[in-house]
Amino acid sequence: MGRGGGGGVSQPASEVALRARIGDHEFPLHIGAGALESVGPLWAGRAAGDGVLLVFDGNVAALAERLSGSLQAAGLRVVLAEVPPGEGSKTMAEAERLCRDAARAGLRRADAIVALGGGVVGDLAGFVAASYQRGVRLVQVPTTLLAMVDSAVGGKTGVDLPEGKNYVGAIWQPDLVVMDTTTLETLPARELSCGFAEVVKYGLLDGEELFGLVESWPALPGPEAELIELIRRCVEHKLAVVAEDERDGGIRATLNLGHTVGHGIEAAVGYEGYRHGEAISLGLLTALRVAVETAGLDPGWRERTASVLARHELPTRLRPEVATPDIVDAISRDKKADGRALNMVLIDAPGSPITLADPPLEVVVAAIEELRP
Ligand code: GLY
Repeated sequence: MGRGGGGGVSQPASEVALRARIGDHEFPLHIGAGALESVGPLWAGRAAGDGVLLVFDGNVAALAERLSGSLQAAGLRVVLAEVPPGEGSKTMAEAERLCRDAARAGLRRADAIVALGGGVVGDLAGFVAASYQRGVRLVQVPTTLLAMVDSAVGGKTGVDLPEGKNYVGAIWQPDLVVMDTTTLETLPARELSCGFAEVVKYGLLDGEELFGLVESWPALPGPEAELIELIRRCVEHKLAVVAEDERDGGIRATLNLGHTVGHGIEAAVGYEGYRHGEAISLGLLTALRVAVETAGLDPGWRERTASVLARHELPTRLRPEVATPDIVDAISRDKKADGRALNMVLIDAPGSPITLADPPLEVVVAAIEELRP
């Protein structure tokens, strides 16, 4: 892979084992059908302590049983900690509860928190791992497409405050990541599509070859070996970017393609009605229109992107009740909170991300209005 994030095989395979490297931190990352069963032996081979707090939500209770079995069979001592499904669990109160669960279980610095689930569990359990006893080991076992290609990789962890999403957190890299693609087979179709919006983002950021693969993707989740390869390509793109800019001061911002207006839409609807991936679908189309108008992107890329998003049931039209001024207000609030210029990520061609500081408001508004039926 480019820019020093790790290595892997290039042909579709039933299991891929990468060695990820972020700064001087190295960890294995496995992607495979049935890989859940290998978490126990993989972690037992790396763990410094035998204690594990396994954090999961009710949606993956059956997987938690299997994972717990794998860890125990490998000689590890497992305490289960269930959190309610949904963004509402990403709170300081839930993090405190998990820290206290860890304390009662006698977890020490050499022990591990294992996060099993989607982005919420990964962010929350990751934050607990970063904070408890000033940091313990972390194993990420993402079970959604979105968590596999995005949130479980890169080390961003955190919780929300009533004042803002992800307002408290830490960068805390995992010591092992295992992605079992069979967990995607039972994921609701809408959830899979939402993860696919991030996959489309990687296609645009990585270049024409990956975009071509994404564009020709059949119904989700798709054939197993090819799916493993697709996830590997996205993960390798992200790892390479994070290896270069772990603390998000430069190139890492390119991973936010589609997120400026995407976040604006999510905030404008009070985080209800649009899932993250659905808002990102609309955000990508807006960013591509702004890129056509300001950076010379060939408009054909926007049309091709719209058709792949639509084919996977992602929105390409904004619902009429979502007002453009509300989206623009939310974007300006984000900018104010950040205290910097609004750097909108664009591409001038697939594989060539750029940032535009303070894009002309009328161009952004026109790009949003284009989403009207
Ligand atoms: N999801 C964007 C990042 O991890 O930086």
